[in-house]
Amino acid sequence: MKQFISVKDVTNINELVQKALAYKANPFMDRQLGIGKRIGLLFLNPSLRTRLSTQVAASNLGMEAIVFNVDKEGWALEFEEGAIMSGNTVEHIKDAAPILGQYFDVLAIRTFPSLKNKEDDYSEMYINQFIKYAGVPVISLESSTLHPLQSFTDIISIQESLLANPLQVNAKPKIVLTWAPHVKPLPQCVANSFSQWVNAWGAADFVIAHPQDYELDEQFTKGATITHNQDAALKNADFVYVKNWSTYTDYGKVYDNDPSWMLTDEKLATTNNAKVMHCLPVRRNVELSDEILDSANSLVSRQAGNRVWAAQTVLSEILKSSR
Ligand code: CP
Repeated sequence: MKQFISVKDVTNINELVQKALAYKANPFMDRQLGIGKRIGLLFLNPSLRTRLSTQVAASNLGMEAIVFNVDKEGWALEFEEGAIMSGNTVEHIKDAAPILGQYFDVLAIRTFPSLKNKEDDYSEMYINQFIKYAGVPVISLESSTLHPLQSFTDIISIQESLLANPLQVNAKPKIVLTWAPHVKPLPQCVANSFSQWVNAWGAADFVIAHPQDYELDEQFTKGATITHNQDAALKNADFVYVKNWSTYTDYGKVYDNDPSWMLTDEKLATTNNAKVMHCLPVRRNVELSDEILDSANSLVSRQAGNRVWAAQTVLSEILKSSR
């Protein structure tokens, strides 16, 4: 693996999941792999799980991880080619990234979208400029449109749950991604990325439920059944992934924040005793009810724990490719 920006960087999802579960069973089995190697974790936006799970993953592989909160501690970076830097930006990415590439063997970057300009966000300029100028492998810690480490974790968590509670022979799990209300406009990254991974995995009956006008970019959702009827979608679901996102077509808006889209026990009763997933952080009793989050159906905490094994697997694949 030369980089990890989307599911397109993965040759075989099932093999990668097996490696992640092997790391979960034996976290230190490759503790020599990263000795003498260093990863730079660059955050242009906040994080809890992504930052810490990647640090733990690097440590399990014997690798040193250094975190740099670019948004708070670094110079304001310019990403536009040919920019006349007479405004607020202080350092161009084409100057900064090659230096970071000399300090680190691998760079990992979190850059959220602006949610103001769809074309800019969906061009993935920030992460692409790092890739262009860093000269070392780049891992996405969530970009403007995708969150691949989260989605890999999500598939690991689904597969782990299925191994513990197998469905009937030859049955595909029904996975429902459902929109949920939120207090502010959020990126489409998690929903885009989850859709892209489940579609690429191809081992599920995949349904996306959202209110009218919350359609996601078809490049990620193509292959899924899409409905505005949450009740119909939830029927007999085995996994329900709850996530808010802002509008894609009329970009970055909140049209309708209908609280009736929040998952409740009553709705969950129509599923096949579904496991409930969320990437976190979650707004309790806005996106997801306490009764669900604190129930035995919730996979949320285990899912967040699995972030370590996803990151460790990706790091190990990148380290092995660069030997
Ligand atoms: N799910 C996730 O990416 O969490 P953080 O934003 O805390 O890293």
